[in-house]
Amino acid sequence: MSKDGIAEFKEKILKKGNLPTHIAIIMDGNGRWAKRRGLPRTAGHKAGVKAVKRVVKAAGDLGISVLTLFTFSQENWRRPKNEVSAIMKLLYETTKREINELDKNNVKLITTGRIEEFSPRRREILQEARERTKNNTGLILNLALNYGGRTEILDAVKKIAGDVKNKRLDPEELSEEIFSHYLYTKGLPDPDLLIRTSGEMRISNFLLWQTSYTELYITDVLWPNFSAKDFYEAIWDYQNRERRFGRV
Ligand code: IPE
Ligand code: IPE
Ligand code: MG
Repeated sequence: MSKDGIAEFKEKILKKGNLPTHIAIIMDGNGRWAKRRGLPRTAGHKAGVKAVKRVVKAAGDLGISVLTLFTFSQENWRRPKNEVSAIMKLLYETTKREINELDKNNVKLITTGRIEEFSPRRREILQEARERTKNNTGLILNLALNYGGRTEILDAVKKIAGDVKNKRLDPEELSEEIFSHYLYTKGLPDPDLLIRTSGEMRISNFLLWQTSYTELYITDVLWPNFSAKDFYEAIWDYQNRERRFGRV
């Protein structure tokens, strides 16, 4: 699509209104992208970073409030050691390199997941980035790192059990809203739209509690090929749906 075509598409979306407040993305297909080119899987992750930049820019420009990117799952530790280190290296290098630009664009970077399990040096880079951007009022860029949905729910249950034991919480008062406050995503609205690239039809332990009424959008496009136009298409699709929440 031409540059003008893209700009027109963006205008159409903005005119339509009813934008998703929170978009979550399962960025999948880096490995397949690389394989098709006869490249190592790590080349796919590197190309995936460029897609992240495109989508963060597009989301910020549209005025989306929250963009959650599934960046590294708890299960991803099961990958070959060299792939895990390559992903980690990319994550830290990209964070360090892009933080000025993100800050300039008023992006607030946060993380979701057990980052306390990362090495102190790596954690520091993320903490610095969070600290630097904490007063920004534009897009909230939420990186799901070492994230697993079931573990998140279990961690919440453990905290709740502790609070009940210490009499800080009356179990009778526990509601969905209070439960949400014990999750890693405390304070964030639930995703309105969940995009998964590369055609896989599964949730892969992502935001299990939070996606109970999220609209799903699955595209065959591999993550490194995902463009601003692909992102707009997902949003346009969402804008033309009817969300019923059990009503008629
Ligand atoms: C997604 O791409 C990136 C991460 C999970 C970190 P994959 O690496 O899963 O790509 P495929 O699924 O093998 O194509
Ligand atoms: C999900 O993708 C995790 C991330 C995108 C970070 P995977 O490629 O790891 O998912 P599965 O294992 O194919 O379900
Ligand atoms: Mg995958």
